[in-house]
Amino acid sequence: GEGLAAIGRANGITFGTAVDSRKLGDAAYAAQVAAEAQLLVPEWEAKWAALQPRQGSFDFGPLGIIASLAQANGKQLRGHALVWHAAMPSWLAEGLAEGAAKARGLLAAHLDGVLPATRPAIRDWDVVNEAIANAEGNPFSARTPAQGDLRDTPWLRALGPGYVEEAFRAARERDRTLRLTYNDYGLEGDNPWAEEKRQRVLRLLRRMVGTQCPVDALGLQAHLLMDEPFRPEPFTVFLRSVRELGLAVLVTELDVREAQQLPAGLAARDAAVAERVRQVIGTALDAGCRTVLTWGLSDKDSWLARDPDVTRKDGQVHRGLPLDEGGARKPMWQALATAFGSR
Ligand code: G3I
Repeated sequence: GEGLAAIGRANGITFGTAVDSRKLGDAAYAAQVAAEAQLLVPEWEAKWAALQPRQGSFDFGPLGIIASLAQANGKQLRGHALVWHAAMPSWLAEGLAEGAAKARGLLAAHLDGVLPATRPAIRDWDVVNEAIANAEGNPFSARTPAQGDLRDTPWLRALGPGYVEEAFRAARERDRTLRLTYNDYGLEGDNPWAEEKRQRVLRLLRRMVGTQCPVDALGLQAHLLMDEPFRPEPFTVFLRSVRELGLAVLVTELDVREAQQLPAGLAARDAAVAERVRQVIGTALDAGCRTVLTWGLSDKDSWLARDPDVTRKDGQVHRGLPLDEGGARKPMWQALATAFGSR
């Protein structure tokens, strides 16, 4: 039957997924992307390490593979991510450590190299990714040292707490029609650390909007955790506050990290994951979100199966994406189709 792209489109929703250019030569992988995704986001090809691996030398090869596929198949592409503390080549980290003037120059040169070259293909960028510090008790990482609400990163150290606004202003100066998105994770859950992170993100967005800093959208990564029940109210209140700032809301990297105590057996695990996705995505759509991307389509390709920090203790692969390892549609796929259709 028709894929999530068509079901979404019929309901005013743009569905898509992260793609890895190195896998597009695989017929099954390419067929899944063709069938299911309307919008593509490069999993690594639009990050600083890929685009400017050496200072002053830009490599649009891998990104171009994805852009060509999108163009040939009438699909859209979004950019991820211009400013982030990861996927930084060592020369960038060293440059930022030289201080504000150098950092400003490096940021300007990156945007000058990337934005005009990608302008025809990419109309929406994650300008800054994961700038907000995690709060006590978060399960993602040891409490990141911070300056106030901001995560302590080379960008913060180089440019100070105004670096987020600087990056957005610099992007807007170069392209008045880009949708400029702030992207972060850990914002959906019903727990104290997610609530604190939501308040920190809100303070940042309110400061940006309040100082006329160009920002158009909030990207919710939505790497969901199954280690606590989900109550939509706190998430709904947050999303309404973001929407009241005049910002769009996107789900940018949906997948589900299963907790250890999930029910045994695939059917029960898949049903629990599907129900969580239906609840969270339904809540986001009710709040006006009209773009939903998963971070991959098949469990086989998920970073959750690769990243040592997240492999399950029991050695099983997380089943947090819409298709199983063989490419068959799972209950999570149906949960998305149902959420899209019930608008
Ligand atoms: O080995 C290649 C090298 O040949 C290539 O030149 C280089 C270009 O950057 O990439 C190198 O491989 C790895 C890359 O993925 C491509 O597979 C990097 O070593 C590896 O660190 C990178 O991991 C990605 C990670 O972000 C860091 O960029 C994961 O695939 C990707 O799933 C993950 O995605 C992140 C989002 O960007 C932000 N939100 C969280 C999400 C999951 O961690």
